[in-house]
Amino acid sequence: MTTSTAPLPIQACSPAEAAREVAREIAALIRERRAAGRMAVLCLPTGRTPLGVYDELVRMQRDEALDFANVTTFNLDEFLGLPPEHPQSFRRYMRERFFARIGLEPTHTWIPSGDVAPAQIAAHCAEYEREIADAGGLDYALLGIGRNGHIGFNEPGSARDSRTREVRLHEVTRADAARAFGGLEFVPERAITMGVATILGARRVRVLAFGADKRDILRRTLEDTPGPQVPATFLRGHPDVRLLADGAALGR
Ligand code: PGA
Repeated sequence: MTTSTAPLPIQACSPAEAAREVAREIAALIRERRAAGRMAVLCLPTGRTPLGVYDELVRMQRDEALDFANVTTFNLDEFLGLPPEHPQSFRRYMRERFFARIGLEPTHTWIPSGDVAPAQIAAHCAEYEREIADAGGLDYALLGIGRNGHIGFNEPGSARDSRTREVRLHEVTRADAARAFGGLEFVPERAITMGVATILGARRVRVLAFGADKRDILRRTLEDTPGPQVPATFLRGHPDVRLLADGAALGR
């Protein structure tokens, strides 16, 4: 797949409708894979945006007997320098917001390590790519978009062919995280992220964007010539991508 100026298909909907739609798609994938005796491989994000999806999947387990036994997950990214128990680590976010609530086996949940030794980071990233490949690749990637156009922690300047790697966090990303960390000085400067090419390798990609804070970056994502200045523009041209966004984010 080459960089494409194709439009990004858009579904205008409320955050609650988006959560139900994405959860329905994920549930259908899980059930279809189970019927075939296979795992469903999900790529998952953190942040505020996906919380409704996690709540809806928890509800479907409770009310609709949705079974996660054949699910493997790979998270997009993690801050470097944080132990797994740190309140702001994505490992902890995922456990509290989703994994523990549905009883997902820790052996089925992959997240880059935030406390890997510096000398081991490159090997750890290569191993993450290998685990994704060994799982059969990503079936379904759920993404948010940062106000600077990042997907995962693929910050402005990230290449279309980038893979899982260590990155320096952009000032907008760190500023947006500052409140949760109790001050900018506590926000890590570096992270590990799945690459743009890793994400684009997913068979299906769904992007969520809600609220007026995302309006400017969404307009650029939809209209700019695709390139590293807005990594989310690389999503255009994926064979099965859809943006689910509310009116405030779409400026409608
Ligand atoms: P948010 O983050 O869901 O908290 O807005 C999105 C992102 O940075 O990818």
